[in-house]
Amino acid sequence: MEADVGFILNTMRDPAGIPAPPWLFQVLMVLTWVAHIAFVLVTLGAAALSIVAFYLRHHHPHWQQLSIAMTKGAKIGVSLLIVLGVAPLLFTQVIYDPQWYTASVLSARWLIIFIFTLIIGYCSWFVFYYSNKPEAQTRLGLFALLGLGLFLLDGLIMHVLAYQSLQPDQWMNWYAPNGQVDTRGASLHAIQWSRFLFIISLSAPALALYLLAYADYYSRRSDRPKDYRDFVRQLGRRIGKVGCLISLPLLFWWLLDLPGHLSTSAHTPGWLLAGALIILAIQIDRLGSLPGRGYLLLFSGLIPLGLMALWREVIRVHAMKPFGYDIHDYTVHADLPSTILFFLTLLGIGGIFGGFLVLLLYRAGQVEGKYQADRTIARLGTLSVVVLGLWITVFFVYGFSIWVRHAIGF
Ligand code: HEM
Repeated sequence: MEADVGFILNTMRDPAGIPAPPWLFQVLMVLTWVAHIAFVLVTLGAAALSIVAFYLRHHHPHWQQLSIAMTKGAKIGVSLLIVLGVAPLLFTQVIYDPQWYTASVLSARWLIIFIFTLIIGYCSWFVFYYSNKPEAQTRLGLFALLGLGLFLLDGLIMHVLAYQSLQPDQWMNWYAPNGQVDTRGASLHAIQWSRFLFIISLSAPALALYLLAYADYYSRRSDRPKDYRDFVRQLGRRIGKVGCLISLPLLFWWLLDLPGHLSTSAHTPGWLLAGALIILAIQIDRLGSLPGRGYLLLFSGLIPLGLMALWREVIRVHAMKPFGYDIHDYTVHADLPSTILFFLTLLGIGGIFGGFLVLLLYRAGQVEGKYQADRTIARLGTLSVVVLGLWITVFFVYGFSIWVRHAIGF
């Protein structure tokens, strides 16, 4: 049975092969997923806090200010998590195409629902964002609750696709239960609650780290006075400690919930992750109330996320082994020019142009009133325009030359 499934899996691979070694796509998939999930978690955390703060806004003006800030943060976070979800999606589809496409077709309706609920959820969030003012009516919070609820549903759909793709031996049962073919794609066939709830629970520590960095970031602005920043810092510290305490048992549940046939090495990153979470909780407790440590703590949050991303991939590799599916024997038709173009794009557009935007926004946000760019930022801006122009030229010249080569039959 496993051999048959393995044969089908390998036959479903793209016959055109892939343009670079499979490990490269695997590494990029893991790394880019860290960026995606970081924004997912911060967004969910910020959204939840903005709702709580909205309902507490009459208790103290700090809650009102925090609610507005978190609503804005979540608004930007959703756009970034969507953009940053595209990269791991593409890399998954390159090396795990049979798994991802089959899992998607088996729950096709839900995949389409995913798009619509994301749009409705985001629109709903915008309604909340535009109207979240001190005089706003309490029932406005319903838009925010709807938005957050739909984002969580979207996360669940993503989880189901990822989890279904790990179980090729179940696909026929889902596609044709009792021998009756069901092409509707109307069910979410498999949910691993331990995995999903653990990942989502990390929103609390992620929010905490965001709050601690937020309190440091605004240290120079008089519209975020010291007492407000101290309030945010203390809140972040509390949410961080409680959040890690809630995440840990969920993590152990996931560890126990892994299929018995997975070898112990499949569990190793999970145990390291538990250790990283405990250390993070201790650090939040120790440094959380001190001004100036927010960024350090924020970036140290990437360690547990990196371990989680690695663990997901180790689980996938182990789950595929019995079927004889190994990404390393994927057919490679090396395409050096496109690989070089990809990395140059990443460096030039991602590094210089992206770096310019991030730095500009970072500095501008620290200043009250009109922001005047300094010389470094201005030069980086000019360089970005040059790099962008160069990139567009190379993109079209490269495409055009391939087209001409094919047209004249070389
Ligand atoms: C509010 C919207 C979203 C939420 C809450 C969300 C949440 C999640 C979660 C929790 C996972 C981990 C699932 C697991 O490992 O069990 C995940 C994985 C993933 N998400 Fe998202 N996501 C959202 C939107 C998106 C979008 C718009 C894209 C693509 C453009 C995307 C691409 C991915 C990819 C590629 C994976 C990894 C799948 C795999 O490795 O098999 N996500 N997401």
